[in-house]
Amino acid sequence: MSAFDAVDLIRTKRDGGSLSDDQVDWLVGAYTRGSIADEQMSAYLMAVFFRGMVADELARWTRAMIESGVRRDLSTVDRPTVDKHSTGGVGDKITLPLAPLVAACGAAVPQLSGRGLGHTGGTLDKLESIAGWRAVLSHQEYLRQLRDVGAVVCAAGDDLAPADRRLYALRDVTATVESLPLIASSIMSKKIAEGAAALVLDVKVGSGAFMKDEASARALAAAMVELGAAHGVRTVALLTAMDTPLGRTAGNALEVAEATEVLAGGGPDDVVRLTLVLAREMLDLAGLPDADPEPALRSGAAMDRWRAMIAAQGGDPDAPLPAARERHVVVAPASGPLSRLDALAIGVAAWRLGAGRARKEDPVSAGAGVVMHAKPGDVVSAGDPLLELHSDDPERIERVVADIESSYTIAGVHHPPQPLVIDRIEAR
Ligand code: URA
Repeated sequence: MSAFDAVDLIRTKRDGGSLSDDQVDWLVGAYTRGSIADEQMSAYLMAVFFRGMVADELARWTRAMIESGVRRDLSTVDRPTVDKHSTGGVGDKITLPLAPLVAACGAAVPQLSGRGLGHTGGTLDKLESIAGWRAVLSHQEYLRQLRDVGAVVCAAGDDLAPADRRLYALRDVTATVESLPLIASSIMSKKIAEGAAALVLDVKVGSGAFMKDEASARALAAAMVELGAAHGVRTVALLTAMDTPLGRTAGNALEVAEATEVLAGGGPDDVVRLTLVLAREMLDLAGLPDADPEPALRSGAAMDRWRAMIAAQGGDPDAPLPAARERHVVVAPASGPLSRLDALAIGVAAWRLGAGRARKEDPVSAGAGVVMHAKPGDVVSAGDPLLELHSDDPERIERVVADIESSYTIAGVHHPPQPLVIDRIEAR
């Protein structure tokens, strides 16, 4: 006989109550083992969506998710370990220059990552556009690369927070993804299980982010920072703007090309700035406050680490990146300052062009995406190239062109862009 009855727990949450530690452990454990039906967990998740969780309940729920799998031990890595996690944004390729940069400054970055779903791209999808690069590593290969190169970005194995894999798939089809406690526990269970001693969270705010307004992003950041601290992971969160895409590209190979420009000492100013801000936070948390990432970026030391990191996973850093078969240039219909380039609309356009997937088993096109020739604040003249749409399929381009005009505004007045870093949140 089981310890609890799922119907009682659903009723408790539906009516605004909280579960005890034992009830949380039972619910998460039994669902992961397959002994609670999807329809019961769906009802429970929907009740959480409306009723939330109190802090102790969220801490226990996250712990139960971590304990559904292994918590990795990185104590054999002889440098301080620190990771970064972004809640997801359009054009967010920051991990690509950031991981080798932080490794070049003396820390080790152990990043277990996922694939993209919906309008934000996944880091593994981006890296897979590099010829030969392998996302799947054995635990031994992973540890060796962490020790030898200092940075590894690879697929999380099935043993890392398996409860999240089942819960996330269910949330995805029951409209229960956008819930603060469910997002916080999902992200933090995986990051804590990964084993890094410190973690910097990049919590995105704006149209292209999960959290559209600052108050909800702030609440999510605070909850995640507390969860990290409760599990002994030094955690800091930055709230960063995601009303407009980061950099000038959205799409897998296009973003890898832009990341290598940054590693070569160039690249768009916002990508360079955010990479450096996050690198400083990571090095600080790793106990290396005197390490300066800027010279490491300018000198090519980070680029050398990138090449080693790609080669260690079978990739050829010199291979030409795949390009889409078709291109279409969208020109500015009027002259004036570009006052808005909407992150969500550009993310959806890149996704429709083939850069993203609708279901997790769908393939992605490496070359598809959007190149942005102008960003908010730039002044354009009628007829100037504004956006370039890349796809293997001309019909996808036609569909995107039909409503791309709603993604930008050319206004008579110039609005100063939002600051990139809005706030910094640490544990109380
Ligand atoms: N990313 C995750 O890993 N989980 C969520 O719930 C949302 C974003």
